[in-house]
Order: sequence, then structure tokens, then C-alpha cells
Amino acid sequence: MKSQEVVLKMKPNIKEQSVEEQSSSKTKDVSSNTGVKEVTLHDLPGVGAATAEKLEMAGYSDMMGVAVATSGELVESGGVTEATARKIINAARSALDMGFESGQDFLKKREDVIKLKLKSEAINELMGGGFETGAITECFGEYGSGKTQIGHALAVMCQKQDPDAVAVYIDTEGTFRPERIVQFAQGAGLDVEKTLKQIRVAKAYNSDHQMLLVEKVGDMIKKDGLKIQVVIVDSLTSHFRAEFIGRGTLAERQQKLNKHMHALLKLADMNNICVYVTNQVQADPAQFFGDPTKAVGGHIVAHASTFRIYLRKGKKGTRVAKLIDAPNLAESEAAFVIAEDGIKDL
Ligand code: GTP
Ligand code: MG
Repeated sequence: MKSQEVVLKMKPNIKEQSVEEQSSSKTKDVSSNTGVKEVTLHDLPGVGAATAEKLEMAGYSDMMGVAVATSGELVESGGVTEATARKIINAARSALDMGFESGQDFLKKREDVIKLKLKSEAINELMGGGFETGAITECFGEYGSGKTQIGHALAVMCQKQDPDAVAVYIDTEGTFRPERIVQFAQGAGLDVEKTLKQIRVAKAYNSDHQMLLVEKVGDMIKKDGLKIQVVIVDSLTSHFRAEFIGRGTLAERQQKLNKHMHALLKLADMNNICVYVTNQVQADPAQFFGDPTKAVGGHIVAHASTFRIYLRKGKKGTRVAKLIDAPNLAESEAAFVIAEDGIKDL
């Protein structure tokens, strides 16, 4: 066995200087919290130093990345034969002990799920007690419907439940407002300075950077020992939408978005984190009856999200949240208001 440390340098293909600087930090396997055996790409059969380097360059920064890759992908990026690729993938899979869990184990894991509550009882009830850790909750709706406000509220309220909880806010639209955090923290009776300190904000400059930041969250858990309970991606789709314009690029966009969603799902699942992503709506010309809008990102985002909330503006400044997709909850609605000091009931 080589050294227990994963010494992989990430070299993603991004332009900004600041991003490049950030990317030079070492990426480690995020699996230590989960009791998964720690091995490196170098330990895999058929992977010499040169191949490991190539795979790393192609973004296979940890075992999970290799384990869930297809052999074709490894052939292309690692320059190995098809047979070796299959061998590498199988070895990565067995190293990660990926397979079936008993219903009992699964139930036990469910017991670890934390339900993050907002001030609005109606929303908490809608969500079956709160926003679940270990899952992705997607919130979509028109501009000003409250997606960002709920993100801010989650970043604060997780700390109300657990004083050590840390929230990560990936801001793609420049709409994170510490002033709102201050108001929400005061409304929740929390120490304002401490609350601000326990929210880590990063601005994502493009979709590559956004994806890189998600990988860095794994680092923060492992290296800095932070108890990250919520990761907010606001908005999930804006960069993807802006960068891939036109019909011809749709497949490429969806492929990349799919990869991003799976990275988020893995982050949520392996670290028991509540991932909250916001999404815009776009006009759906095919819809003649009912609401003529649909979420951006299509079925890729919809399928990867465990919970989906549709927000709309109600009468007299109220908001309505509709739970439209959840594994074990009925479809229902909750009305709420965005107040100075929190997301509250009417
Ligand atoms: P887009 O990102 O534009 O798609 O919208 P969004 O869904 O993220 O909307 P956002 O969460 O930013 O909600 C904006 C709305 O929140 C505003 O229209 C206000 O109604 C409300 N809001 C924002 N700040 C305050 C505040 O300080 N006090 C109160 N009472 N309401 C606020
Ligand atoms: Mg917003």
C-alpha cells in the first residue's frame, strides 16, 4: 500500500486566476466520515504513476469518481485499455465496499437524518418535519418568489437546531446578503457574529467553478473538521443556462448538469448534508392549461432532486410553496410570508 494520504492535485480547466489558485489545493477523499476504507488511485491494480496522473488531470480526484465512471470514460482520459479500465473500476468499487445494504442498515441510516426547520410551521409540516439532510431539495419558482430568502433562512436556522452547524452558500448570482443573515439571526435569537462566522460563502464565477466549489466542500469537512449541515447552491442553473446557449449545446449542458447533480447527491449522502438548490422557471410553450412555466434543467435536475418545491407569489405579498415531488410525502401546499426576521406563517 502506498501512503494513506490521497495526494491528488486537481487541475480543472478553468480560466480565472482566482479559480486556478483555489484549485491548487489538495483534494482528499471525503469518505472518512462514513467509515469507508481510505485508498488512493495509486493503490488500484493497473494504475501506474502516469495513469494516475492522467486520471487526476481528467478530474478523477477520488475513488468514488472512478467507481462510478464508465470504462469508456477511463479509456479516453486515462489512456488505458478497455480491459484495464474495467479492472480499475471494479477494484475501486470493491475498495469502496459499494453494494447492497440491508433494510435494517438503511433504516438505521434514516435515523441519522436531521430535519432542518424554518420559523414557518406550515413549511416544516409540508416538508414532513423539515428540510432533510442526506438529500437534495430543489426549489423553483419565478423571480422574487423567495428561493434565495429560504436559502438564507436555512443557513441561519440550522444553527438554531445545532450550535455547531455550519452552512455553505454557493452564490452564483451575487444575491447573498449578510444583512439578511443578521436579521434572520436576530429573529431566531442567535448570536449574530457567531452565525455569520458559521456560514461560508463562495461566489461561483462559472459552471466549472461552481462544480469545483462542491468538491471543496468535501475538503472542508475532512481537513477543517467543519460540521457542515447545509449546502446551498443559489442558483443551480443560472451559469449552465448562460454558458450553453442554443439547441446544439443542450446535450452537453445536460451532461454537465447531470455530473453536478450527482456530485451534490454524493455530498449529501456521504456526509449527511442537506443540499438546497434553487432553480429558475422558463416559459413552457407546450402548456396551454394551468401554470405555463417549468423548471430549468429538465428531467436531469428533477430526477436527481429528492424533494421539489414550487414557489409562487400569493395574494397580498404572501407566498405559496407546493411540494410536488417527495419520496414519502403527499403533494400539498403551504402559505408563508417573507418577513424581516424570518420565513414565517401567515
Ligand atoms: P430570483 O433569484 O430573482 O429568481 O428570485 P428569488 O426567488 O430568489 O427571490 P428572493 O428570495 O430574492 O425573494 C425576494 C423577495 O423577498 C422580495 O421581493 C421581498 O418580497 C422579499 N424580501 C427580500 N428582502 C426582504 C426584507 O428585508 N424584508 C422583507 N420583509 N422581505 C424581503
Ligand atoms: Mg434568488
